[in-house]
Amino acid sequence: MSIVFNEKNQTFHLFNSKISYIMGVLPNGHMGQLYFGKRVHQKEDYSYLLEMVPRSMGSYVFEGRRTLSLEHVKQEYGVYGSSDYRFPAVEILQENGSRISDFCYKSHVVTAGKPKLPGLPATYTERDEEAETLILTLEDNVTGIELQLLYTLFAGDGVIARSARFRNRGGCAVHLLKAMSLCLDLPDCEYDWVQFSGAWARERHVKVRKLEKGIQSVGSMRGHSSHEHNPFVILKRPTADEFQGEAIGFSLVYSGNFLAQAEVDTHDTTRVLLGIHPESFDWKLEPGEEFQTPEAVMVYTDRGMNDMSQIFHRLYQKRLARGYWRDRVRPILINNWEATYMDFDEEKLLRIAETAKECGIELFVLDDGWFGARRDDTAGLGDWKANTELLPNGIAGLAQKIEDMGMKFGLWFEPEMVNKNSDLYREHPEWILAVPGRSQSQGRYQHVLDFSRKEVVDYIYENMAEILGKGKVSYVKWDMNRSITECYSGALPADRQGEVFHRYILGVYDLYERLTSAFPEVLFESCASGGARFDPGLLYYAPQGWTSDDTDAVERLKIQYGTSYCYPISSIGAHVSASPNHQVMRETPLSTRANVACFGTFGYELDLNRLSAWEQEEVKRQVEFMKKYRELLQFGTFYRLKSPFEGDGNITAWMVVSEDCKKAIVGWYKILNGVNMPYMRLKLEGLDPGREYGVREEGEARGKGCGSFYGDELMNVGLVTTDTSAGDALPGMHPGRDFDSRIFVLE
Ligand code: DGJ
Repeated sequence: MSIVFNEKNQTFHLFNSKISYIMGVLPNGHMGQLYFGKRVHQKEDYSYLLEMVPRSMGSYVFEGRRTLSLEHVKQEYGVYGSSDYRFPAVEILQENGSRISDFCYKSHVVTAGKPKLPGLPATYTERDEEAETLILTLEDNVTGIELQLLYTLFAGDGVIARSARFRNRGGCAVHLLKAMSLCLDLPDCEYDWVQFSGAWARERHVKVRKLEKGIQSVGSMRGHSSHEHNPFVILKRPTADEFQGEAIGFSLVYSGNFLAQAEVDTHDTTRVLLGIHPESFDWKLEPGEEFQTPEAVMVYTDRGMNDMSQIFHRLYQKRLARGYWRDRVRPILINNWEATYMDFDEEKLLRIAETAKECGIELFVLDDGWFGARRDDTAGLGDWKANTELLPNGIAGLAQKIEDMGMKFGLWFEPEMVNKNSDLYREHPEWILAVPGRSQSQGRYQHVLDFSRKEVVDYIYENMAEILGKGKVSYVKWDMNRSITECYSGALPADRQGEVFHRYILGVYDLYERLTSAFPEVLFESCASGGARFDPGLLYYAPQGWTSDDTDAVERLKIQYGTSYCYPISSIGAHVSASPNHQVMRETPLSTRANVACFGTFGYELDLNRLSAWEQEEVKRQVEFMKKYRELLQFGTFYRLKSPFEGDGNITAWMVVSEDCKKAIVGWYKILNGVNMPYMRLKLEGLDPGREYGVREEGEARGKGCGSFYGDELMNVGLVTTDTSAGDALPGMHPGRDFDSRIFVLE
């Protein structure tokens, strides 16, 4: 890994064994982008990569010379105007009304490791040798605004983390109207754009389309990263697939409004932008003040999307997630939400917990409904005191009883919200985000607390800390169930209202930071009506997230498959729930529900007492299996093998392989059974070709896939998944059933 500056040619080459990132100072002093991709040789001169062609209708930077037009040149951080007409990375409104900026290279430093981003989640290093950071300092002479562009190159993998930092060194206040984290101009547009979109309970479905001229984008203006789109997109070559070919993943380490955009211009170059959504963003920068953008992470590979995902998984698992739980297998939990919703008392909860304990489950989580006047979703949010009619011994008493049973206790909070029917709102109606004199939209009968105000965050911190400090609470599920609408803070002046969305998220991060520091061994799971804030920003504080409110095993195939493109399996909350399923009313086998959930942070979300004795025995077996293999399942190398988004989507398959390649687990899923179905083989990945693996099926073996096979056979010939278990008893029929699944263990 190296960052080389060529003084004579004013170029920078960031390279490790996988990638090269080359940029140079343009004739007008701006930073130009020259190359990002597979590693190339370090050379003196890359000036041939600066292509400047005079074109009719062009606007040019220098008087009398038809050479440099910013419209046609690939840049590091594009500005609008001054001959570039593309969507810019930065826009600054100045005192005289101008929005033109002119950021020219001034100096740079290279440091070992990676600096922290104050108040923001970001990837990190533990040792200086893990990364090198280049900080380019640019300056706009007219305004005196200094812009620092930060590039961290990680050793070993094709990862570059980027962000931008503004300092007002001038004499007048300015308004930052656009301040993207990343701008990358690519020389062509031969890419597919891959986005991860959906809705509540249908998150992160894979959508692929060809990149076209003009702008294509996804984003959120809801105050959170959203169910609708994830702050993660991929540009892949049309011929690239899971196993080969070029792909670049772009991920924003942020949980608020975001924009991910690609603009293909008339000469087929592609500008990628990623950062805080400029809509409603207006940050006033007084002289002497600084603004730091969130971090964006780019991963390049020429080895297909599985490789790209594995790079993200390694980085986000080990150098984004932090703390006590980062490297630990996650407790198998039972959550009472789908078992009781808000209809519970202590006795009912203890009955569920007792059976869970008998089944080997390790953590009991009490969900929504335990506090204040909360008996349905119209009341109580904000009043974080146990309802002693339901829980006569309070949270501390219940937690103690669960601990006495030999299980850990976990608790649900929704810290950012308040119901109007609550003591908190009655006392502090001014603490919600609302525009004076205008109506206040509600969502789920609740309102959003103004987390841009320190006193609000302090108040919630004290209330939560008291509960966590008094009772034996080992886990917190942090929920967030509505979007922000009238985004206005009573505590800020008119010319700072455009800061509220971002200040709100900074408040959320602040509360997370304080709680996770004060209670370092508590496991935090983020949640936002399922997966509305499943983003890298929260992964920094909470190493796992509730992936979706849809717990149906079939639906989950798509949701978990899509989520895996960026996020590691150890972050994917997945539970076995009741059948018929509560979201789609589908009846699926208990085994399939567990076989899907085990590729995640595994748990149950149903009343185990309603299961038959046989099913309870089955749950015990599942828990045993999970305990035995969770290290591999949660921390192994994950491969997507067969996509539910391709073809008829009837078969999905994925697998994990241990670091030493000695063990692997394959999950195979079939949605509908058919008559006279084709023969089926599944080519595995990541095995040691020369090693002989004993393959067995969890549960009953149903074909010829079990036995002893070399890695090269399993990867090239394939694992036989044809179900031949019915022998010749049912000619013409196909054995198996709808919503079928199989788990193969290779050792
Ligand atoms: C939404 C979450 O996603 C659910 O799991 C549950 O916690 C409910 N909120 C409780 O209100």
